[in-house]
Amino acid sequence: MTMLRLILLSLALALCTYGQNLREALSKFPELSNFTAFYANNDALANSFFGNQSLYPVTFLAPNNKAFAGLQSQFGTNMTNVPIDALLALVQYHTLVSNLTKQDFGNGGTEGITVPTMLNNARDNNRSVGVSMASRFGGEGKAAGQVVFIKGDDSGSPGRFRLMSRENNGGQPDSSVRSGLSSNVGILPIEGSEGVWDGGRFHIVDGLLTPPTTCASTIRAAGLVNLDLALNRSSLWSALDGSKNITCLGPSNDAFINAGNPQSVLNESALTGALLFHTLPEVAYSDYLYDGQEFRSLQNFTVRVSISGESSNKEIRFNNAKVVEANVL
Ligand SMILES: *[C@@H]1O[C@H](CO)[C@@H](O)[C@H](O)[C@H]1NC(C)=O
Ligand SMILES: *[C@@H]1O[C@H](CO)[C@@H](O)[C@H](O)[C@H]1NC(C)=O
Ligand SMILES: *[C@@H]1O[C@H](CO)[C@@H](O)[C@H](O)[C@H]1NC(C)=O
Ligand SMILES: *[C@@H]1O[C@H](CO)[C@@H](O)[C@H](O)[C@H]1NC(C)=O
Ligand SMILES: *[C@@H]1O[C@H](CO)[C@@H](O)[C@H](O)[C@H]1NC(C)=O
Ligand SMILES: *[C@@H]1O[C@H](CO)[C@@H](O)[C@H](O)[C@H]1NC(C)=O
Ligand SMILES: *[C@@H]1O[C@H](CO)[C@@H](O)[C@H](O)[C@H]1NC(C)=O
Ligand SMILES: *[C@@H]1O[C@H](CO)[C@@H](O)[C@H](O)[C@H]1NC(C)=O
Ligand SMILES: *[C@@H]1O[C@H](CO)[C@@H](O)[C@H](O)[C@H]1NC(C)=O
Repeated sequence: MTMLRLILLSLALALCTYGQNLREALSKFPELSNFTAFYANNDALANSFFGNQSLYPVTFLAPNNKAFAGLQSQFGTNMTNVPIDALLALVQYHTLVSNLTKQDFGNGGTEGITVPTMLNNARDNNRSVGVSMASRFGGEGKAAGQVVFIKGDDSGSPGRFRLMSRENNGGQPDSSVRSGLSSNVGILPIEGSEGVWDGGRFHIVDGLLTPPTTCASTIRAAGLVNLDLALNRSSLWSALDGSKNITCLGPSNDAFINAGNPQSVLNESALTGALLFHTLPEVAYSDYLYDGQEFRSLQNFTVRVSISGESSNKEIRFNNAKVVEANVL
């Protein structure tokens, strides 16, 4: 009898805590009404994706109504008019592998977490997963998708986080899109059982994530004109844009000026050598770097990582150069 009661009780508890699908969970949040409507309009697609248990556990980043309004003003259209394959890619990119809570996002600075998403198509994911990330996220099969980088907030206001999918919307030819989109969107972590659904958790983002694009577009969108100039004078663009698994240590505009404007002063072969020295033949996300780690750059010189400080004061250097913006995808 007691045993039966106990079993019944725990069954009832289990049902009321975890017995909601994503749509039910999201519909309790008025600021997600646009997404909930979008879900209802694309029921078949959404159910087959979010109902697929072999993907669990996942964390969904639910775009709020502000994100939808942003989409509308950028593209001059609403979600109803976005083609179905683009919709799927978008939903996949907002779905993170594993069950993540606020505590996973770190405390700001260069601290944070790089997480693979479900976005797997070759156009949007021309990279391959490294050994460390694969082992952290359940193996190569699970962790192969394009990533986002999430970091905690260091501005001091509690509950706000920055989620960085990419510097800017460089891939869009329309200049009004470029000015309108900042893909460093805010994330509001939903804590406790409110954010739990059958497949894992969800959190709210205030802008849509933009899948990463080529090196050239990204560097230009980030406003790195001196690096752009240097690369224009070398013949490295096609190699950078056409290669998998490349990390570019991109000097800021000031770094070029402080070094005496090599982008204008050096001849082409010296400049190409210098740029290859800043190019690593591996994907090197900041949260997988360790103090004393060494990379062999494409110029065949060693680049050494040093890490000092902790948490939001963590500082990463490649040789003597300090990382000011980590994980631009
Ligand atoms: C979408 O959100 C806006 C507010 O930003 C609201 O006025 C509109 O009714 C919402 N649409 C749906 C379908 O929920
Ligand atoms: C569920 O996901 C797995 C792994 O990605 C995939 O192989 C399978 O086709 C999916 N099932 C459905 C019904 O979409
Ligand atoms: C979205 O666009 C469709 C087709 O153009 C239109 O029927 C619908 O009313 C629009 N929805 C909103 C919320 O603007
Ligand atoms: C990409 O780099 C990872 C290690 O960081 C390696 O395991 C993988 O094989 C590389 N892929 C390609 C295509 O070079
Ligand atoms: C996700 O984590 C929460 C606790 O944070 C847990 O209650 C839930 O069962 C987990 N979901 C899955 C699908 O692993
Ligand atoms: C580099 O070349 C591209 C293509 O020719 C051009 O659009 C861009 O403005 C150039 N960058 C700079 C900083 O001159
Ligand atoms: C992806 O990388 C390969 C090299 O591994 C390159 O040939 C191809 O052009 C790249 N594709 C895209 C879409 O960038
Ligand atoms: C380019 O400049 C380097 C020194 O910065 C010099 O050693 C080299 O000879 C120059 N190459 C040409 C082709 O002028
Ligand atoms: C790269 O450097 C290593 C050790 O410094 C040397 O043995 C090797 O020959 C160099 N390779 C090339 C292609 O220059």
